[in-house]
Amino acid sequence: MTDSGLFLTFEGIDGSGKSSQARMLAERLRDLGHDVVLTREPGGSAGAEEIRRLVLEGDPDRWSAETELLLFTAARRDHLERTIEPALAAGKVVICDRFADSTRMYQGLSRGNLRGLVDQLHKLMIGREPDLTLLIDMDPQIGLNRAKGRQGTEERFEDFGIDLQQKMRAGFLALSKEFPDRFRVIDGNRDMDRVAQDVTEIVLQTL
Ligand code: TYD
Repeated sequence: MTDSGLFLTFEGIDGSGKSSQARMLAERLRDLGHDVVLTREPGGSAGAEEIRRLVLEGDPDRWSAETELLLFTAARRDHLERTIEPALAAGKVVICDRFADSTRMYQGLSRGNLRGLVDQLHKLMIGREPDLTLLIDMDPQIGLNRAKGRQGTEERFEDFGIDLQQKMRAGFLALSKEFPDRFRVIDGNRDMDRVAQDVTEIVLQTL
């Protein structure tokens, strides 16, 4: 199936400000007259939001690393079928807060090296990459402090501390070199509005 929409993703460590940037970009593009779907992972469709609760609430150790990878992938498959692909087919701009690169990092690197398995499963069940990925790069300690300031019931990877945050930051930067055609790295250690300005410029070039 060919489609005419544009698929944009935001990636970065917890507390990098990517969710705010995704929201601001959606507003900006809507102001310019684009039809925008703003969505997130894990989640973004009814079924995937149910799976989100399974992976982010309750005792995180109740799933093995492999089962967790299957759950994130199942959520993504539902999100793709129900939300992302229909929107792209209708020519819309899809902005997604996290996508497969997060699985390459978190499930691929946090509990041993499962990257090979992540890639195989992605090829088998997802098979789609974004047109453009905006990596909001951020000092891990600042990110951690910000993320910890938010209270909630969800267990996130930020709870594993600074070492993992550092590993994830380095991993995301390495990923940007692995996929240089679609990745753009943006310095997130600045005022939100400055970061948003860069994001908008890059996206408008692509549009
Ligand atoms: P998110 O809601 O984006 O959290 P934040 O706004 O703090 O960045 O993501 C929740 C958590 O889910 C986050 O710690 C990263 C994790 N995650 C994975 O481990 N694998 C995945 O494939 C995705 C999409 C998210």
